[in-house]
Amino acid sequence: TLRAVVEGVGHYLPDRIVPNSEFEKTLDTSDEWIKTRSGIERRHFAADGQTTSDLAARAARAALENAGLDVDAIDGIIVATSTPDLTFPSVATMVQRDLGMTRGFGFDVQAVCAGFIYALTNANALILAGQAKCLLVIGAETFSRIMDWTDRSTCVLFGDGAGAVVLRAHEGDGTKEDRGILSADLNSDGRYRDMLYVDGGVSSTGHAGKLRMQGNPLFRQAVEKLTSTAQNALEKIGLTGTDVDWIVPHQANIRIIQGTAKKMGLSMDQVIVTVQDHGNTSAASIPLALSVGVAEGRIKRGDLVLSEAIGGGLAWGAVVLRW
Ligand code: ACO
Repeated sequence: TLRAVVEGVGHYLPDRIVPNSEFEKTLDTSDEWIKTRSGIERRHFAADGQTTSDLAARAARAALENAGLDVDAIDGIIVATSTPDLTFPSVATMVQRDLGMTRGFGFDVQAVCAGFIYALTNANALILAGQAKCLLVIGAETFSRIMDWTDRSTCVLFGDGAGAVVLRAHEGDGTKEDRGILSADLNSDGRYRDMLYVDGGVSSTGHAGKLRMQGNPLFRQAVEKLTSTAQNALEKIGLTGTDVDWIVPHQANIRIIQGTAKKMGLSMDQVIVTVQDHGNTSAASIPLALSVGVAEGRIKRGDLVLSEAIGGGLAWGAVVLRW
């Protein structure tokens, strides 16, 4: 049985770190409110002129180095992003050029905060179908570019960054003990469009627009939908919450992360949390957290990892993999 195994992981965060206290200067907000309502303490913002593809390429290099692979080993690049450098071409083709990769393919996936889950699921399908042996899967965002800096209910929540994994085809035994992606579950429901969207685009306003969010209704959807997609992904392969070593969740809000872990019957000791340092980096948050979890020596080879995410669409999903 063919499996898509994580061979390496890496990330990149822009140099500029912005603490909550910065927002106190321009908005009616406080470090205390942001910390207690969201768990966020600081976030990184890209420098002027630093684009999503710059962040993505740096994360990709780190993942290749961690895998001990040269770019020649890569058959394709999939980038999950909602904040591309340009309307087209894809960020993936820009990363391809940046890495000096002249063969293979690259394309972007757009499922907002669930983007990395969607990208991993696509990459897994390509590997299982024999279309590629080795893929770079990247989540990269510059959400600072779509913030309304006068809206305290959104602009304090997001950050910039990128994370990447190298996925490689390996022959497994076909059991749940195999390393690699074991299961996935994808969902979307366009009826929730107004809960989270960007109020601009090529075919409507002709400009990029700003992020708009109904945080509280979304919050109430999140825990329920994340728990059910996580349980679906586990059930498909006959596993339950008790089999999970690590939850590596999308990092939007510490209270959503805690609520989901509790509903799954897992302790917070089994959750990789980076929201305090990164804020919500949308499609980049899961690969960033994976990279941090591995670098800290917490996630180890053979561990069962559950990742879940929800965001604009609404779009949500989960992936189960053995590290
Ligand atoms: N500082 C101070 N007060 C604030 C701020 C702020 N930055 N922002 C909002 N408030 C106020 C509100 O105006 C409101 O005041 P009111 O009671 O006088 O009306 C009060 O704080 C409470 O606001 P709520 O929105 O009800 O607070 P809540 O507990 O829901 O927390 C939050 C808000 C953090 C946004 C939360 O709802 C959340 O995390 N939602 C989900 C976000 C999410 O998961 N997004 C999905 C992924 S993102 C993506 O896909 C791109």
